[in-house]
Amino acid sequence: MKAAWIVAALAGGLMLASGAQAAKVYQVGTDAAYAPFESVNEKKEVVGFDIEVLSAIAAKAGIEVKFINTPWEGIFATLANGERDIVISAVTITPERRQTMDFSEPYFEAKQLIAVGPNSKISKFADLKTLKVGVQTGTTGDEVVQKLQGKTSANIKRYESTPLALKELLNGGVDAVVADNGVVVNFIANNKGSKLKTIDDSSFAKEYYGIAVKKGNKDLLAKLNKGLAAIKADGTYDKIYKKYFGK
Ligand code: ARG
Repeated sequence: MKAAWIVAALAGGLMLASGAQAAKVYQVGTDAAYAPFESVNEKKEVVGFDIEVLSAIAAKAGIEVKFINTPWEGIFATLANGERDIVISAVTITPERRQTMDFSEPYFEAKQLIAVGPNSKISKFADLKTLKVGVQTGTTGDEVVQKLQGKTSANIKRYESTPLALKELLNGGVDAVVADNGVVVNFIANNKGSKLKTIDDSSFAKEYYGIAVKKGNKDLLAKLNKGLAAIKADGTYDKIYKKYFGK
């Protein structure tokens, strides 16, 4: 009788242990107001280039992921406090960010791009020195404009999302927006009537997006890098890239 109980308890414990392992679902934070990288569709699903890339990586790495729309402000803190295991959100790898989190190998090259209204006289980044510039708070766009205008400039207008900054440009509330090229181009393509123009400035450095994990999470990072290498090698990455950006 006693022995049977012990056997049952042991079996139950084993089932729980293995069950818990199989059920590990990595929580992925993404600021889904950033088409075509991440956005929410009519069915309220989080979709986009980043979502497809990470889903393909996860399939190769044999891990399960769940995407959770997470505001950009504070998104990195969710790695440190354990609310998220992974952040994929068109995040540029920078030396400062590397101090507080770890990044996968780069998976996308980007650059800042200036958006201005149809009749604007602005022709280069330096022209924005004393003008009102919209940025998404805490992005690399915010950083480059700080370098031009100074950190405390009152002419830097910060928004919680990049589309909000661009809408403000449409409303005439700012003279220009500085943001990642892919998102600016996508916004203009979806707002054709607006006739916004873009200015590419040679002073902008190349940026590389990486997938972020909690600092020191070597195990997960290795899985992600392996999966990324695999989808690059077998053409999956190229297929997703073509779908979103043409060739
Ligand atoms: N690449 C820029 C950065 O890392 C902007 C990223 C914003 N991403 C987003 N999903 N809102 O600062």
